[in-house]
Amino acid sequence: MRIVNRVFELREAIKTWRSNGESVAFVPTMGNLHAGHLQLVSTAKKKADRVVVSIFVNPTQFGAGEDFETYPRTEREDQEKLAAENADLLFQPSVADIYTSDAKTIVTVTGLSDLYCGASRPGHFTGVATVVSKLFNIVQPDIALFGLKDFQQLTVIKTMVRDLNIPVEITGVDTVRESSGLAMSSRNGYLTDAEKKVAPKLYYSLCAARDTILTGNRNYADIEQQAMQFLQQAGFQPDYFSVCRSSDLKKADAEDMDLVLLVAAKLGKTRLIDNIYFSR
Ligand code: PAJ
Repeated sequence: MRIVNRVFELREAIKTWRSNGESVAFVPTMGNLHAGHLQLVSTAKKKADRVVVSIFVNPTQFGAGEDFETYPRTEREDQEKLAAENADLLFQPSVADIYTSDAKTIVTVTGLSDLYCGASRPGHFTGVATVVSKLFNIVQPDIALFGLKDFQQLTVIKTMVRDLNIPVEITGVDTVRESSGLAMSSRNGYLTDAEKKVAPKLYYSLCAARDTILTGNRNYADIEQQAMQFLQQAGFQPDYFSVCRSSDLKKADAEDMDLVLLVAAKLGKTRLIDNIYFSR
């Protein structure tokens, strides 16, 4: 696996592949790789001749007082894991390689970016959409893979690609979970041993709400309230629990068939998110 830091080096490597007629898949990450990230890489290997992975802890998607400085950086281990997955190229730029100090352009997917996680983390999805569009322009992949774990992020990216006619196919990959049901996340490492025992209840709350809906209950406001109460009693500080239509993340009504339940909650100092999608 080749490791490059600079944009021009990446472009040269990709140009060579392109001249050989090879297709390129891209997996953007912020590193501290776990089995969820590696699932994206192994899926990418099946879909294209070459796989590019980026590791870039993107400062613009972190708010003031969030964990940008303390976000886990595990360069050596990440490189070993990616080499074992047979990724072809790791792009690991510095902040200065990606952002010039006089940059004037940002990308915002309006509306969608203000809901749910966007409401609690103002500017977060603009940071994500801006860096992902820059990375798409740098790598120019045929396909890019994102985890369904970050369902709202995936919806923001799909909407951006559609609205800006970006020539890349977006593929969503299923959430990889611990055996307890807890969705894998780089932030799980912040949990104390006691919190680790409680954390799987987040997924449990989603499964319970889904099962209630599948029995025919359409009182979504009640279901949301009960889930919030359950999480509070379990020791979380819930942020939101929402029954949404999976297509555009608007609040679901009784007619909608394709649903996603979105949840975010803090456990101690750690903010966890999860979701479950299904057709009723
Ligand atoms: P990061 O949190 O590192 O996640 C990188 C990719 O891995 C995202 O597409 C995310 O949805 C996926 N992922 C994380 N946990 C997963 C799990 N348990 N199962 C399956 N996929 C999982 O998301 C970001 O970085 C950034 O916002 C980024 C898109 C790189 C832009 O900076």
